Amino acid sequence: MLLATRASQIRRAKGANAAKVEKAGEAKSNPVRALLPEFEKNGQSAAAALVEWSPDTLRHILARELPDAQVIVVSNREPYIHNRKGEEIELVVPASGLVSALEPITRACAGTWIAHGGGSADASVVDANDRVEVPPENPSYTLRRVWLSEEEQRGYYLGFANEGLWPLCHIAFTRPVFRASDWETYEAVNRKFADTVVAEARNERPIVLVQDYHFALLPRMIRERLPEAIVITFWHIPWPNSEVFSICPWREKILEGLLGSSIVGFHTQFHCNNFIESVDRFLESRIEREESSISYGGRISLVHAYPISIEWDPPLLDRLPAVAECRQLIRRKFGLSDDVRLCVGVERLDYTKGILDRLIALDELLKLHPEWIGKVAFLQIAAPSRGTLPAYQQLYEECLSHAGELNQRYGRDGYTPVVLITEHHSQAQVYEIYRAADVCMVTSLHDGMNLVAKEFVAAREDEQGVLLLSMFAGASKELLEALIVNPYDAAMMGEALLQGLTMSPEEQRQRMRRMREIVRDNNVYRWAGSMLLDASRLRKRDAVDRAVGSAPGSPDNVISLLDRKRVASL
Ligand code: G6P
Repeated sequence: MLLATRASQIRRAKGANAAKVEKAGEAKSNPVRALLPEFEKNGQSAAAALVEWSPDTLRHILARELPDAQVIVVSNREPYIHNRKGEEIELVVPASGLVSALEPITRACAGTWIAHGGGSADASVVDANDRVEVPPENPSYTLRRVWLSEEEQRGYYLGFANEGLWPLCHIAFTRPVFRASDWETYEAVNRKFADTVVAEARNERPIVLVQDYHFALLPRMIRERLPEAIVITFWHIPWPNSEVFSICPWREKILEGLLGSSIVGFHTQFHCNNFIESVDRFLESRIEREESSISYGGRISLVHAYPISIEWDPPLLDRLPAVAECRQLIRRKFGLSDDVRLCVGVERLDYTKGILDRLIALDELLKLHPEWIGKVAFLQIAAPSRGTLPAYQQLYEECLSHAGELNQRYGRDGYTPVVLITEHHSQAQVYEIYRAADVCMVTSLHDGMNLVAKEFVAAREDEQGVLLLSMFAGASKELLEALIVNPYDAAMMGEALLQGLTMSPEEQRQRMRRMREIVRDNNVYRWAGSMLLDASRLRKRDAVDRAVGSAPGSPDNVISLLDRKRVASL
C-alpha cells in the first residue's frame, strides 16, 4: 500500500517533470528507464521504478528482457466470437473477466491466442490454418481457433470444468459432479490444445500463458513437448483448502499437470497457500515456503500471487456519454423514474455471484426502512451462462421468482423495485450502467478477483458512486474503501445498502478517489508485466543452469535469481 501511495506521488512528480523527460526523448522509447531518475532521487531502488504500467511498459519488458520471445495465450473462451445472425455475421466480445484482462495484453505483445472457436460463424472467417487476425477493426494479434465436437464440449467444458472444478474451487455450496467420462474428455481436449500450442510455437522456447481451470493438464503436456518453454499458468478462480480439494477423484493428476508450469499464478496469497498445502498433502514434493516454490519430478514451479486488473486509462471512457447523461439514459431505458436511486449488479448469471443475496438485502432494506419504498430500484444485468446445466437453470428460476415476489410486495404503478435483465450486454452498455448507478453491488459468495468491482471504479471519473463489495471476492483485499460485506449476512447487507444510499457526496468522493488510485496503479499491465518479469528471471536462471551443465529448472541449482521481496512489493 505504501508503495502505491509513493507511486502516485512519483507519478505526480513525473507529471511536473514531463517536459524534461520528453526533452531527453526517453519517455516514449523507454518508459521504465524514464522513471529511474525520479526514483533514485527519492532513494528507492531502480526496480521499484516499474510503476508506469502501460502497453509501452509491456512491450519494453518483452523487447529488453525477453527478446525474440513468442507469447502464446491459451484459454477456453475466445476474445472474439463470430456468430451468424441471418445473413450477417455478428461479432461478440464475451462477458468474461479473463477475456477483458488478457485482450489488451495480447494486443500489446502481438502474440497468438489459442481458444475454442465456439461461434456459429467462427469457421467461416478463419484462414486455412484456422487463424484470424483480431481485433477486426485494427488487427494486432492472431486468434487461432480450436474446434471441439458437441461431445467434447459436453465432457470437457460443461462436465469436468463447469460441473466439477468450478463448484469444487468456489465455496458456494453447490455440489461438484465428477464423471469418469468427463475426465477422459477433459484429458483428451487438453491434449488437443497441447498439439495446437506445439503447432503454433515458432521455436522451442515460447512463453505460454495458460489460462484457467479448463487446462489443468495442459502445462505438463506442453512441458513434455517443449521442455524449454516458459509456461505460466494463471488460475482465475479460487483454489480451495486441501480438505475440499481432496474430494476430486483425480486430484493428484490435476496437481501434477499444473506443476508442469514454470509459474502457477493465483489472484491472492491465500489461494497460493491453499494450492501449496494441497501439493504438500497429495504429492511427494519439496516445498520452499520462503520463495514459494515447489520442486516436483526434477523441476521447480513458482507459486505466486498476481492480482488481475483492468486497463487504465479505460479506453471506453472517451466514447461514453457524460455521467449525468448516462443516469438519464439508463433510467429511461429500463423504465425507472428520474428521482429513483439506482443500485446495480452486473455479471454472468452464476450461482457464485450472490445475486439472490442482493435481492434478499433489498428486501431487508425495504422491510426495515419502508420510507425507501418507491425511492430505490435494483437493476440486475445477468448475462446467460452455461445455461444447459441444472444448477444454472435452477438459479435462473430462483432469480425470476425472487424478483417477482419483491416487485409484487413493494411495486406499484410507475415503480418496479427490481429490474432483472438476463441478456448479454456490450462493455460500452455495461459502462453506461456503472455510470448511472448510485450503488454497485458486487456480492459474490466466492470469487478469485471480480473485475466488475474494478470496472465500476474505473467508470466513475466523477468520483461518485458507492461500491458494496463481498469480503469473499479477491478485489476486497485491494479496494479497502468499498463497503465490505458478508453476502451471507442479510442484516449486514441491508445496512450497508442503506449506508451506501445515504452516503454524503464528499465521503463518496474520498473513497472513490482512493479506489481509483489503486486500480490505476495496479492495472492489468502491471499484472502481466509482473508475470513476464518473473518469466524473464526464470529464463536467465535456466541460462545459468545450462552454463553449469545441469538441466534447466532443476531444483538442484540453488541460486534463485528471483528477488521475491521486490516482486512482492510490486
Ligand atoms: C470465469 C472463468 C473464465 C470464463 C468466464 C466466463 O471468469 O474464470 O475462464 O471465461 O468465467 O465463463 P464461460 O464459461 O462463459 O467462458
